[in-house]
Amino acid sequence: MSAPQELLRGVRVAPSILSADFGALRSQVGEVLAAGARVIHVDIMDGHFVPPITVGPLVVEALSEVVRDAGAMLDVHLMIEHPERHVSELIKAGAHSITFHVEATPHAAYTANLIRESGASVGVAINPGTAPSALAELSEMLDMALCMTVNPGWGGQPFIAHSLEKLGRLRAVLGDRAALEVDGGIDPQTAPQCAQAGANVFVAGSAIFHAEDPAAAYAAIAGAVGAE
Ligand code: DX5
Ligand code: ZN
Repeated sequence: MSAPQELLRGVRVAPSILSADFGALRSQVGEVLAAGARVIHVDIMDGHFVPPITVGPLVVEALSEVVRDAGAMLDVHLMIEHPERHVSELIKAGAHSITFHVEATPHAAYTANLIRESGASVGVAINPGTAPSALAELSEMLDMALCMTVNPGWGGQPFIAHSLEKLGRLRAVLGDRAALEVDGGIDPQTAPQCAQAGANVFVAGSAIFHAEDPAAAYAAIAGAVGAE
């Protein structure tokens, strides 16, 4: 079987547990895995880089077994300061890819190397106000770039339409090799627009977990982009 990280090379819809019912987290994740999801997105927030505080390695670990058993991967999105301090603990807990914000550390190249040497895929995220050129010196080191299509910190915000034009410029900075993930306001309408603009990994939180039937909501977005 190929490494879980290989999943990011395909067209994937990644349910974000931020909008799930945390009292029933494992079964909610089980529902989307059964519907075909193979990338589960975990948002870690520290109350500093962004105002909210969410979860940490304990929740990654709690999901690790069910995700691994499905042949899926845990895609961890760090919205925290000093991301380099948490890499090894998160990988021990079961993270397959770690994405940190270029705005959150002056040590982006160091952090990217650390993630790779520790055995996970390397992702770097940019906020809506950050230019794609911020990744120019890092592009060779990345498995994935994450283009925030809302301001980070909260689920349920509207998609920033300007992101579509930005995705093309980001793809040009990255070249063809790295995955391009979009996160924020993704639904069956916006996901295909992002696909057209060059994205291949589509994070969706509220469009999946606030729906009456998360499995059907996952399938609707997956169908709209032709996800595997
Ligand atoms: C927000 C997080 C997202 C969030 C997206 O900062 O990074 O992953 O879950 O939520 P929706 O899909 O509701 O916009
Ligand atoms: Zn996210």
